[in-house]
Amino acid sequence: MRYRHPFSYLVAVICSMLPVGPAAFAATKADAKIAELYRKECGACHAPFPAYLLPTRSWDKIMVALHQHFGDNAELSTEHQPIIQKYLTDHAADNKNDRSGDRVMASLGPDEAPQRVTEVKYFVTVHNKVPKKVIDENPTLKGLRDCAACHREAASGTFDEDDVRLPVRRKSK
Ligand code: HEC
Ligand code: HEC
Repeated sequence: MRYRHPFSYLVAVICSMLPVGPAAFAATKADAKIAELYRKECGACHAPFPAYLLPTRSWDKIMVALHQHFGDNAELSTEHQPIIQKYLTDHAADNKNDRSGDRVMASLGPDEAPQRVTEVKYFVTVHNKVPKKVIDENPTLKGLRDCAACHREAASGTFDEDDVRLPVRRKSK
């Protein structure tokens, strides 16, 4: 096999060393494209919420009613709708693709299907660390649903603890 570019040779070598192989590598690339589509479509008006914060039954409810989405029309094209629906299902709390999914499920009742990530007990518990003052005394902060105010990488779908910066409260005059 000949490689047109030294880099593609390197990629092939690395892939052959991984237990997964080039097929899985291609699948990962396809996944990244779908995640990108999700961020673009569902991150246009607010942060693209991590799919593992809600169970499939919640995402299903949200996805069938996008034309009446919290008072907005967030309808998707017939092409993108099934792709994003599958992405959300694949990464939902009940699909065990994320280490925190189990904790989300454990915090929900058996039939509970909240449509807000901010109503999930796991989410509330994780955010108990945020001092109440930060929210109450910051007029620019729209509450905990304002993810990007603290999660600096929220727009790119990253919510790591390391990227959290609490907003500085405005000093009262
Ligand atoms: C046209 C703008 C718009 C688009 C596009 C949009 N949303 Fe929303 N979304 C909203 C508004 C407005 C709210 C409610 C904000 C509020 O009241 O807190 C909301 C809230 C939500 C919430 C609840 C947040 C909470 O409070 O916990 C979820 C979950 C959600 N959207 C998912 C999605 C998904 C999934 C998509 C992509 C299919 C999407 N949104 C696309 C406007 C949009
Ligand atoms: C007022 C600031 C603030 C807002 C707003 C906020 N967060 Fe957080 N978030 C935090 C803090 C602080 C932590 C805890 C970090 C730690 O444990 O050290 C956290 C933790 C998290 C974690 C857990 C991270 C991990 O590595 O386990 C997730 C997921 C998360 N937030 C998602 C969200 C989402 C989604 C939104 C919006 C719907 C949001 N947050 C809004 C401050 C905030």
